[in-house]
Amino acid sequence: MKILQIGGTGFLGSHIAKRLIERNHELTIITRNPDNEMSFDKSKVKLIKGDILQPNDLNISEKYDVLIYTAMIPFKPGRISNRKFKELEKITRQYFQNTIDLAKKLSCTLILTSGASFETKGDEVADENWAITRKGMAALGKCYDEMVSEIKISNSIPLIEMLPAQIYGNGGMFNKLISMAKSGRTILLGGGNNFLPRVHVDDCADAFLLAIEKQPVGKRFIICDDLNATVKDFMLHLGAAFGANKTIIIPKIILRMVIGKHIYNTLTMNTKVSNKRIKMELGWQPKYPTYKEGIKSLIL
Ligand SMILES: NC(=O)c1ccc[n+]([C@@H]2O[C@H](COP(=O)([O-])OP(=O)(O)OC[C@H]3O[C@@H](n4cnc5c(N)ncnc54)[C@H](OP(=O)(O)O)[C@@H]3O)[C@@H](O)[C@H]2O)c1
Repeated sequence: MKILQIGGTGFLGSHIAKRLIERNHELTIITRNPDNEMSFDKSKVKLIKGDILQPNDLNISEKYDVLIYTAMIPFKPGRISNRKFKELEKITRQYFQNTIDLAKKLSCTLILTSGASFETKGDEVADENWAITRKGMAALGKCYDEMVSEIKISNSIPLIEMLPAQIYGNGGMFNKLISMAKSGRTILLGGGNNFLPRVHVDDCADAFLLAIEKQPVGKRFIICDDLNATVKDFMLHLGAAFGANKTIIIPKIILRMVIGKHIYNTLTMNTKVSNKRIKMELGWQPKYPTYKEGIKSLIL
């Protein structure tokens, strides 16, 4: 297949790119920095220098079967003020709108990535029929819901939605947590008693490969492993695996003051989700069904 990817150099995107290369698909990646080192063989990919915020400067003349969006807005961990949040909201809208417009221009299938943000209580388990909970940083993506709904009503492009859980693996921002554990500390922000679904980056990329090759148009998929676990269980296991011997708990009241409400709401939201649909409809099976096997695979 001829595939165009925005975000193909990132944490998740580069794992998808590696798989597409292995499967001999013809891959083109839009990147702002084509000269950067990349974790896949650059000679097997066509790189287009470009920025999704400047769509008119994108020099794309070929036809593609699929456009994959795995880009991430510029975002540094830390406190987010209301003003910064509004700025990020605007940028998020541009990322999604320009991507959708590009898919319309190319008349190809769009695989759009958001996140498995669902607020659940007690034994509730969310599935793809639930509305995405736009709370915390996920509220940046409110525009996503409007745009997706418009695509569905107007049937303007073939759309597949991917909603990964928190992705872990060697790379991206997750490397910071590994480094912290290696330096001897596990930090539990807000105590960590809330549930947060996870998926190993290899399993997540496998799910994308299935979606790209099977094209289940009109569907949305939650991508998470088989175990709904608490943040605390995951973090303590990660810490122990990398030699941490000290656990620091930041109480919720302090966390809220330091980090601001947007990140606080993201870090403390309770989420349990189901991976039934992606297993049944795409035949996806995680190689790492729980974080216990997954974290073991990260020890190099
Ligand atoms: N990581 C997670 O735990 C997680 C969980 C759920 C959902 N997601 C979603 O999964 C996707 C990938 O996340 P990630 O963690 O892999 O992100 P990441 O490592 O930060 O990757 C960012 C990617 O976005 C590209 N990008 C950013 N701004 C761009 C722009 N203006 N124009 C073109 N490309 C741009 C970057 O390309 P260049 O720098 O090469 O231009 C890079 O390839 C995101 O949509 C994210 O919301 C992630």
